[in-house]
Amino acid sequence: MIGHPAGRRSAWGAADGVDPRSVPGRHLRGGATMPGIGLGTFGSERVPHEAVAEAVLGAAEVGYRHFDCAAVYGNETFVGRSLREIMARGVPREELFVTSKLWNDRHAPRDVRPAFERSLRDLGLDHLDLYLVHWPFPNHHPPGVDAHARAPDARPYLHDEYMATWRELELLVDENLVRHIGTSNVTIPKLELLLRDARIPPAANQMELHPHFQQPELFRYLVANGIQPVGFAPLGSPARPDRDRMPDDTVDLEDPVIVSIARRLGIHPAAVCVKWSVQRGGVPIPFSTRRANYLANIRAVVDEPLTADDIHAIAALDRNSRLIKGQVFLWREGQSWTDLWDPDGRIVAS
Ligand SMILES: NC(=O)c1ccc[n+]([C@@H]2O[C@H](COP(=O)([O-])OP(=O)(O)OC[C@H]3O[C@@H](n4cnc5c(N)ncnc54)[C@H](OP(=O)(O)O)[C@@H]3O)[C@@H](O)[C@H]2O)c1
Repeated sequence: MIGHPAGRRSAWGAADGVDPRSVPGRHLRGGATMPGIGLGTFGSERVPHEAVAEAVLGAAEVGYRHFDCAAVYGNETFVGRSLREIMARGVPREELFVTSKLWNDRHAPRDVRPAFERSLRDLGLDHLDLYLVHWPFPNHHPPGVDAHARAPDARPYLHDEYMATWRELELLVDENLVRHIGTSNVTIPKLELLLRDARIPPAANQMELHPHFQQPELFRYLVANGIQPVGFAPLGSPARPDRDRMPDDTVDLEDPVIVSIARRLGIHPAAVCVKWSVQRGGVPIPFSTRRANYLANIRAVVDEPLTADDIHAIAALDRNSRLIKGQVFLWREGQSWTDLWDPDGRIVAS
């Protein structure tokens, strides 16, 4: 991990910010380097789009170069205005790493390119650095629904359909419209099939990752197969939508081990989660619209690292506590959300 160099690369940047060059990068299969922390842009259906856009601009000013977007967040035009402003203030496009995601109601091959082009247009870019299939299920839910909502035509993961979608993403790479493609919310059995059948394998997988939900087996599998793990909800998503809250959910930021490490270092427990995530080899994408918080999160990446003992202690905190369970993507009445996650190592497809 590198500290803060004295000089800055461009004139634009906050005096108390972080030099983007000091943020460790992750080399992706296929060429690009992904900055080791990104700013999430999902306002959990609560935060106004304007506030997210302002955070994108403010985050770039304090050193972020990596932004995690998605069509379904409904705010790509707002984020796009900030990206244009960031470039107008002198940050070259090549320094930015922008991700977007194909939403579940656009998996049909004929829908992929128009959906991609819409994101590109809304974000005001001529290419994306990473384009993900947001969920492996073609099951849509409108914003704001509760956990019982189901798409009327919902169906399970069907590998042939997923591959037809993937082929369209591969064509976008061929045409240099996107540098890398990747997965999100998939399991090892689904990845095994994708790695068997893809012409262009995924460069990254976005997955829920925080101290109480470490997914060690999937994490190891990704690293072994040259796929970069990107961690969403890295702080345990304290403001997630109500449909993603259940009585047994645990709270990472209140974990006594995390809190005691934070006290020792004089930082917020959120910064401990960020440090752990980066030191483990992941790329966390914490969301925040508060300057003090998104600044603290990027500083956590470049300031004093956790000790080996801290890392060891946090590794022992895993409780397999999945927060974003995905109930709204189920396809049968009376099903358990665990069916979405192939609990026995086999794809649940009926
Ligand atoms: N692929 C997927 O299916 C998927 C699913 C979920 C999320 N994501 C992506 O992952 C991103 C992050 O996930 P998330 O937003 O659910 O959860 P998160 O990043 O774990 O938590 C965000 C919350 O933490 C608070 N926070 C941030 N920094 C803090 C700090 N330093 N101190 C105290 N509180 C802090 C924020 O509040 P303030 O704004 O008040 O700071 C916000 O309420 C999303 O925005 C989205 O881009 C992807």
